[in-house]
Amino acid sequence: MLNTQIYNDLKDHYKQISKFTLLDLFNNDSDRASKYTLEANALKFDFSKNNINDVTISLLTKLASESGLASQIEAMFSGEKINNTENRAVLHTALRSKDKAILVDGVNIAEDIQNVLSRMHDFSVKIHNASHTGFSGKKITDIVNIGIGGSDLGPVLVCQALKPYRKNNLNIHFISSVDGYQILDTLATLNPETTLFVIASKTFSTQETMTNAMTARKWFLDNTANNLSAIQYHFVASSTNIEAVSTFGISPDNMFPFWDFVGGRYSLWSSIGLSIILYIGYDNFSEMLNGARDMDKHFVETTNLKQNMPVMLALISLWYINFYEYTTQVISPYNTRLTRFPAYIQQLEMESNGKSVDKNGDLLGYKTCPVIWGDSGINGQHAYYQLLHQGTSIYPMDIIFALSDKFSDRLHNQILQSNAIAQAQAFMVGKTSLQAKSELLASGESLERAEFLSKHKEFHGNRPTNMILLPEISPYYLGNLIALYEHKTFVQGIIWNIDSFDQWGVELGKQLAKGILNDILLEKVSTTDTSTASIIKECITANKN
Ligand code: F6P
Repeated sequence: MLNTQIYNDLKDHYKQISKFTLLDLFNNDSDRASKYTLEANALKFDFSKNNINDVTISLLTKLASESGLASQIEAMFSGEKINNTENRAVLHTALRSKDKAILVDGVNIAEDIQNVLSRMHDFSVKIHNASHTGFSGKKITDIVNIGIGGSDLGPVLVCQALKPYRKNNLNIHFISSVDGYQILDTLATLNPETTLFVIASKTFSTQETMTNAMTARKWFLDNTANNLSAIQYHFVASSTNIEAVSTFGISPDNMFPFWDFVGGRYSLWSSIGLSIILYIGYDNFSEMLNGARDMDKHFVETTNLKQNMPVMLALISLWYINFYEYTTQVISPYNTRLTRFPAYIQQLEMESNGKSVDKNGDLLGYKTCPVIWGDSGINGQHAYYQLLHQGTSIYPMDIIFALSDKFSDRLHNQILQSNAIAQAQAFMVGKTSLQAKSELLASGESLERAEFLSKHKEFHGNRPTNMILLPEISPYYLGNLIALYEHKTFVQGIIWNIDSFDQWGVELGKQLAKGILNDILLEKVSTTDTSTASIIKECITANKN
């Protein structure tokens, strides 16, 4: 990307357009709001409040085309091994496809995918109609998903977002951290006779998950008079590793497989979605798959990149990262049901695109993924939005909200919407110190105090936001939304020429933690750096007490 003509053109263009404010851009183009709003599957994306104009869009879409985006989309969807460091195809899209033939290494995976879906369907029906009960014949009332990273964040996001769709009043619990509190606190509330554990782990070797799974297993046996034969009624696994699942003591009949062409952070569509299916039912999960598939279709078929929603979402964010050099991207969902969306996107984008070498291993000369962060927008307003409005840096933001919410109260939703809209406007328009001064004078402040306070009450504005509007937070639109960000992540990875589907950066910490755990357990210090050594010693001493 760096040495291309188009990159240099964009740099020159940046020098020009950065002289204009967002308000200037609106004043120069009366069609701006409608021109810069896209609609796909009734999801609306208004990107008009960004520091861009038609020239920016033309140059950015040219950058995308010249990076080979079209052929890379084709390569991903057709199962080419685009994850080149792991020599794997990338086919999370196959999990929601209706195609009858999807080949990986000459094998048609479409059938396997349908088989697993149908097994998950049957299993969920048995749980819901109580033909699968606990070992003592009692109905399952609680599902415990034990997993971390992609084996947790997707199911957590969806189960929270779609809670109003839940079946049979089932309770769901998520255990990801290895600190012990999460699992011990949860287990203390559960009855082993009515609890089903879903051990969700692509590799079935992740330290946190396996430690928690063993603790759950021990708790179960301790509370069922060591009833080993009862395990089959209460433990199931979602994994690619059949041997490790069997070694743990879960029979293949209770294992729901998936495949190495599904990355962890893209796995909620696979058997990692089992907890979701159990919680909201297969039909609703299927609606999510439909939503994601329709976004796939929009992404693949919209060859005019200016109309392609994931492409535009990717390009606008890339514009700020590589040309404005903004270093973070805020995700602000205006609905409690989407509170875990920022965390989900954090893994999706940061684990995918937090890279500093290209596909060949050569150092990049440009920035890649920014810090993705955020929380419920309405809560953020009363916490960190101060910085976003008046701090010294600029933080592009995606504001996401639902146009209607049949599970909420209309007035509450209207208040929520008005806040989301007002914030985007405030970020753009700002308030001059002169305006602040006249407001202060009108409210009866003295001239001296009005002059002093007006500087503190000034908002520079010109801070960009995207608005993403969902008709409602339903399985279909949630599927749409998640796939939108998946493809955004993919597009950026292509332009940056990185492998978005590996995650070597998580390995070093895991490797060192093994040695340090060994030191702590054996009460010795084998590391050489003095800071690490002295903290290990502190732990050894504290653990003796
Ligand atoms: O350590 C990172 C990671 O590998 C993620 O990519 C993944 O989602 C998570 O750990 C959990 O991995 P697994 O599903 O294999 O337990």
